[in-house]
Amino acid sequence: MGLEDERIAESFLASAVGGPHGSRRRARFHTLRVAAVRPLTEASIEVTFAIPEELRGEYDYLAGQHVALRTQLDGHEVRRSYSLCRPSTGSGAIDAGGGGDGPQTISVAIKRDLGGAFSTWAQTELKVGDQLDVMSPQGSFTSALADLDGRHVAGIAAGSGITPLMALAATVLARSETSRFTLVYTNRSTTDVMFVEELSELKDRYPTRLALHHVLSREQRTAPLLSGRLDEPRLRRILDELVFPETVDEWFLCGPFDLVQLCRDTLADMGVEASHVRYELFTTGDPAPQAGRPVVVREDAEVYRLEFSLDGQSSTVESPVDAHESILNAALRVRPDVPFACAGGVCGTCRARLIEGSVAMTENYALEPDELERGYVLTCQSHPQTDRVVVDYDV
Ligand SMILES: Cc1cc2nc3c(=O)[nH]c(=O)nc-3n(C[C@H](O)[C@H](O)[C@H](O)COP(=O)(O)OP(=O)(O)OC[C@H]3O[C@@H](n4cnc5c(N)ncnc54)[C@H](O)[C@@H]3O)c2cc1C
Ligand code: FES
Repeated sequence: MGLEDERIAESFLASAVGGPHGSRRRARFHTLRVAAVRPLTEASIEVTFAIPEELRGEYDYLAGQHVALRTQLDGHEVRRSYSLCRPSTGSGAIDAGGGGDGPQTISVAIKRDLGGAFSTWAQTELKVGDQLDVMSPQGSFTSALADLDGRHVAGIAAGSGITPLMALAATVLARSETSRFTLVYTNRSTTDVMFVEELSELKDRYPTRLALHHVLSREQRTAPLLSGRLDEPRLRRILDELVFPETVDEWFLCGPFDLVQLCRDTLADMGVEASHVRYELFTTGDPAPQAGRPVVVREDAEVYRLEFSLDGQSSTVESPVDAHESILNAALRVRPDVPFACAGGVCGTCRARLIEGSVAMTENYALEPDELERGYVLTCQSHPQTDRVVVDYDV
């Protein structure tokens, strides 16, 4: 194991012992300098940010986590989440409050969506030396395996869904000399494949322990099984003939809603336990959520009373019953620093623990069953059901 492997391995171990699901760093924006912008494909770039020494502890992360980027476009604030694509070389101490060990740079990969506001801006405007607001890393799309010796981890990604899997695959393989990683990566054609060189370098480095299967929907490959859309019959055959689900200890699925849902359903049907499958959605396909829309509270209006703690400070806000607003929207009226990114139930940044009262959650694509059991809710999706609701963002 080389020095680089050892550093990656140490940081991954922290994910198992420190646990992304337990302790959690407060999500906070800092302005970082763009240190590099590198084209990956015609429609995607890798953006690297320099982390000043005093902030390195805050940007320590686990393979699989993501950051939110924030900018102003046409006078409106826009926030979007992007997964960290390089294996972490920091200490991985998820609950580090700041300072201490941590990466000197972090990198994300942004794929341009047709008509997409942020990704188009990033592709056309972002350059070295620019300053951008970057939230500290968040997310629980991380490994729960404490020991990787002899373990087999599998990932299925589509398009930009490769980003967290790049970090995860490199980390799993570096962590143990007997671990294995199988990656199924689907794209339309060869020119759409992100990280094509890094993937083949990883394959050269771990020829027997990394199995890499590119599926191209609009290009003929030598193997007919890997040519065509990744629909259910093709997925089943790939799993049966190339991945062998019974040998896999942990699964990571990443991409758009339809692909992730297909993989989850197929794996469940093949007898894979849901607790071994982790997934991250990049889109839900739902219309754009309304984050922070203005609500006027009339004096005579019937209201819910919301109390919340953030950074050890308690705040109270009233939310008119007929406004049907989320807890996040109400909280933002009195504390603009309440953490959120997607406002659509996918990224988990707005997570808080319900202390008192009850809420109805519209969507949840981010919280694991054990987090729900422990009383966590996505505040961007939660609507009060009792006169008084108390949540805590700090736990
Ligand atoms: C956890 C996570 C990790 C991700 N990682 C990556 C990655 O590594 N690489 C990558 O290319 N993409 C990634 N994405 C997708 C990325 O966040 C963007 O959705 C994508 O780049 C398209 O953004 P856009 O602004 O160009 O497109 P748009 O179509 O303008 O917006 C995309 C989505 O943002 C949401 N949105 C739109 N308006 C608002 C609003 N006012 N407030 C809040 N949300 C709004 C909607 O859900 C919309 O579908 C990730 C998403 C998530 C949730
Ligand atoms: S802000 Fe993304 S899940 Fe609530």
